[in-house]
Amino acid sequence: MGKGFFRRGEIVWHTVPAAPSRQVGRGTGLRAVLKGNAEENKTGAIVAHTKQRILIAGGAGYIGSQMALMLAEAGHDVVVLDNLVSGHADAVAVSGARLVTGDIGDAALVGWLLDEVRPDAVLHFAALIEAGQSVQESERYLENNHRRTLVFLDALTARNVPPPLVFSSTAAIYGEPQTVPIPEDHPAKPINPYGQSKLLVEQALATRAESHGLRWAALRYFNAAGADPEARLGERHEPETHLIPLALHTILGKRAEMLVNGKDYDTPDGTCIRDYVHVTDLCRAHLLALEHLREGGESGAFNLGGGEGRSVLEVLRTVERVTDKALPVRHGPRRPGDPARLVADIGKAKRVLGWEPALSDLDTIVEHAWAWEKKRPG
Ligand SMILES: NC(=O)c1ccc[n+]([C@@H]2O[C@H](COP(=O)([O-])OP(=O)(O)OC[C@H]3O[C@@H](n4cnc5c(N)ncnc54)[C@H](O)[C@@H]3O)[C@@H](O)[C@H]2O)c1
Repeated sequence: MGKGFFRRGEIVWHTVPAAPSRQVGRGTGLRAVLKGNAEENKTGAIVAHTKQRILIAGGAGYIGSQMALMLAEAGHDVVVLDNLVSGHADAVAVSGARLVTGDIGDAALVGWLLDEVRPDAVLHFAALIEAGQSVQESERYLENNHRRTLVFLDALTARNVPPPLVFSSTAAIYGEPQTVPIPEDHPAKPINPYGQSKLLVEQALATRAESHGLRWAALRYFNAAGADPEARLGERHEPETHLIPLALHTILGKRAEMLVNGKDYDTPDGTCIRDYVHVTDLCRAHLLALEHLREGGESGAFNLGGGEGRSVLEVLRTVERVTDKALPVRHGPRRPGDPARLVADIGKAKRVLGWEPALSDLDTIVEHAWAWEKKRPG
């Protein structure tokens, strides 16, 4: 199913799975997520008692499509709005969610969609996501990520009671860290237009809470990684810039070598340290954030990371171990604007949302990403 298959605004009714049959996760958090609203069946799958209607903007992308799958498997009714600028219609088909092709900045379309769907909650993943590219294309990033989100928010807050909104924010809003691990109240001084666009949206959310009673959570992801544990979905960015898929593409011979940017940082092995969080853990945090808002919890921002920092070389060694193949590595100079360490303080998400990363150890992340890379389309 290629891009352009659907007309703008056309709703495609995929077959909705008759009953949730897959395990979406056990234990920490998930029972709390759907408290009073779900139970675990014999296979451990979460079965919703009350079907909710959820609108996912940007649900054809890497994280949003995984979210759609998790919600569909919990028995909810999911509609995706995505302009497919970087998403994939076939990724939406995996969940059986309905896809509406269109832009979050199209006021008429969004207004119509909200009338049709009457969502109980909205998840907003839609964005251009390349920090480096945003430096060259700052106007495009601010237009797409910030101004079009304002149009989207206008449509949401035009409703009597705006549905609660969970927004995908990013560690890039902090800029150069002054303290590591980084807490939510760390100064927000983004150093690229991508981070700036996300910070502007967070500020708009706070304003709409005051003016229209919008309830919101901004989830500041650090490095999203890994893939669906059953390898049905995973990363498909074009161009790919993320470390783990790049290393796996090199193992598969799609790239000649793995470039490491800088080996003279003030870290134990000289390479940058980042905080990797499994995509399934991110999705579980969205469910918890929705539940938090539904129960009248305070709106605000939450860091989401795996809870520990890993160096570039540690990641590459894990890739070699999991794939049982040697990785051709070349060491290059530092990239401008790359801090030595970016690690999240995830205490607030644990304390307030009851979230705990369950799959974010590096071995599991790389194993799931590898299983996906071996079978992914395109
Ligand atoms: N991947 C990461 O490591 C990471 C880290 C921090 C934050 N985030 C944020 O998480 C979200 C999802 O990231 P991802 O990795 O899944 O990216 P992605 O590029 O795979 O998905 C983004 C989706 O949004 C859609 N989209 C973009 N602009 C749109 C618009 N104007 N209208 C409608 N649809 C639009 C794209 O077609 C795509 O399907 C983004 O907001 C991103 O900024 C991602």
